Amino acid sequence: MQKLAIEGGTPLRGDVCISGAKNAALPMMCASLLTSDVLKLNNMPNLHDISTMRKLLEQIGVTISVQGDEMLLHGANVNKLEAPYDLVKTMRASILVLGPLVARFGEARVSLPGGCAIGSRPVDIHIRGLQAMGATVYIEHGYIHAQAKRLTGARILFDIVSVTSTENLMMAAVLADGVTILENAAREPEILDLAQCLNAMGAKIEGAGSHTITITGVERLHGTTHHIIPDRIESGTFLVAAAATGGNIVLHNTRTDILDAVSEKLTEAGAQIRSSHDTMHLHMPERPRSVNVRTAPYPAFPTDMQAQFMALNAIADNSAMIIETIFENRFMHVQELRRLGAKIDVEGNTAMIRGVDRLEGATVMATDLRASACLVIAGLVAQGKTTIERIYHLDRGYEHIETKLSQLGANITRTQ
Ligand code: UD1
Repeated sequence: MQKLAIEGGTPLRGDVCISGAKNAALPMMCASLLTSDVLKLNNMPNLHDISTMRKLLEQIGVTISVQGDEMLLHGANVNKLEAPYDLVKTMRASILVLGPLVARFGEARVSLPGGCAIGSRPVDIHIRGLQAMGATVYIEHGYIHAQAKRLTGARILFDIVSVTSTENLMMAAVLADGVTILENAAREPEILDLAQCLNAMGAKIEGAGSHTITITGVERLHGTTHHIIPDRIESGTFLVAAAATGGNIVLHNTRTDILDAVSEKLTEAGAQIRSSHDTMHLHMPERPRSVNVRTAPYPAFPTDMQAQFMALNAIADNSAMIIETIFENRFMHVQELRRLGAKIDVEGNTAMIRGVDRLEGATVMATDLRASACLVIAGLVAQGKTTIERIYHLDRGYEHIETKLSQLGANITRTQ
């Protein structure tokens, strides 16, 4: 199994290019199931999760080719309306094929995802939404079976704000008979990006990016070309890494307007940030100050940046509290940070971090995607050598992270 070896203590300096957003690319790839024409996606990140989704869609019958950061998806010969357990268990976003398959083919069989490292993460909201649109849904042998001759428009009120549920039901509704209104919808920029792609394919979606999304069903969608938005979590991870190491970096190909919650917290921590539309310059002239963080749905502070701020607070001046309100078990990185010398107490969904002067390198284990990013940041700061095991989690969501960090001066290598 591959590992990362980091010799910490070097401030990050230089320029780095941000890749396309994983969480926009995944649902958009599933949008290819909604048409028999070709969907062309540009700015596609090269990630393990993208390969998993490609494998799943190819099994379903989508023809896919990739050249550089451009992916062509052709859903003319879809013949297997199923997402099997072995793929769904490795990537929960596989549930995103459910809505499009039922919408276009009237049927789908998708494995229940089961547990994952950051909590139970049920899919009841996806299922209830399809039922409200007239689908018959039952669970048998660990699989969700959904059927509907043609879905019908409905008013669906989400009791919890859920990103992939909003995307799944938005994709289901574009080919439904009549108008669907999604209330208390998630407002993540990736949802707006998906809606813009679907509208370019002929869908009629209004209000994406707000709490209420109105979708007027159409008979058919056609192909289009779409440029995927930059990854705001990758952007945020590099910014925190630079801040934690006392660095000075410039992000290119990013989007500053979707990073407000993160840049506000970094400014509070003492970072000097200058932004234009698609570049962001961060300079950290002093030891970071601790910052309190409370995760919540967009536009508030993202849960996907919580672990990285835990690493920052671990070496910051003073104490701070991090409250995780989205996932119930998302503090797996705390145990590992303690191995590097961090002082963190956890009670329920709250972590109290007392910043220490220095962390010391050790061997640690990555437990999920963002926990891995937290450990990389901690390793970049720690004195001596940190070895991070199980980095396959990292490869799910960060494109060539060790190459990009090396370009910024980090002493980081991948070993077998
Ligand atoms: C998406 C993101 C993930 C991010 C998360 C929260 C993708 C591919 N993944 O995950 O990176 O961490 O949003 O910003 O975009 N819930 C239910 N029932 C459901 C669905 C969700 O109870 O049917 C709960 C979850 O357990 C969680 C909350 O709703 O407590 C929000 O989860 P959700 O927004 O659905 O996360 P994902 O869409 O899976």
